[in-house]
Amino acid sequence: MFLLDFWLLCGGRVTVRERSRRNPRMTYVVTESCIKCKYTDCVDVCPVDCFREGPNMLVIDPDECIDCTLCVAECPVEAIFAEDDLPKEQRDFTALNAELAKTWPPITEKVDAPADADEWAKVKEKRHLVEK
Ligand code: SF4
Ligand code: F3S
Repeated sequence: MFLLDFWLLCGGRVTVRERSRRNPRMTYVVTESCIKCKYTDCVDVCPVDCFREGPNMLVIDPDECIDCTLCVAECPVEAIFAEDDLPKEQRDFTALNAELAKTWPPITEKVDAPADADEWAKVKEKRHLVEK
């Protein structure tokens, strides 16, 4: 018990406090893998309808996302990450999601993926192909 108290006083409690101060309200983020795949499986599970649809990818509205995690497992190309877990080279997608969510319309039901989605699922570098 003493050890637990000591841990909370010296480290653990501070870590939890630090985390909530750093990012009190986390969002999930759609990243590069979604581009030209747009499978939309993620849309069906979102309890607050916070996906927004662009011409060739979706984004998440950070003001609506409630951090429930449900969409992550649905994406066949693993395009969705918690903001704090984004791979380094995908971190700019946080700002891109926030920016595009302001103007793209909501999508609340799954639709057919593009005919060539499975081909594009194999392509890793395609950020230059985002259509706004
Ligand atoms: Fe929607 Fe939950 Fe995914 Fe946020 S984490 S986009 S609320 S399903
Ligand atoms: Fe995109 Fe994956 Fe959803 S490809 S549309 S984030 S299911």
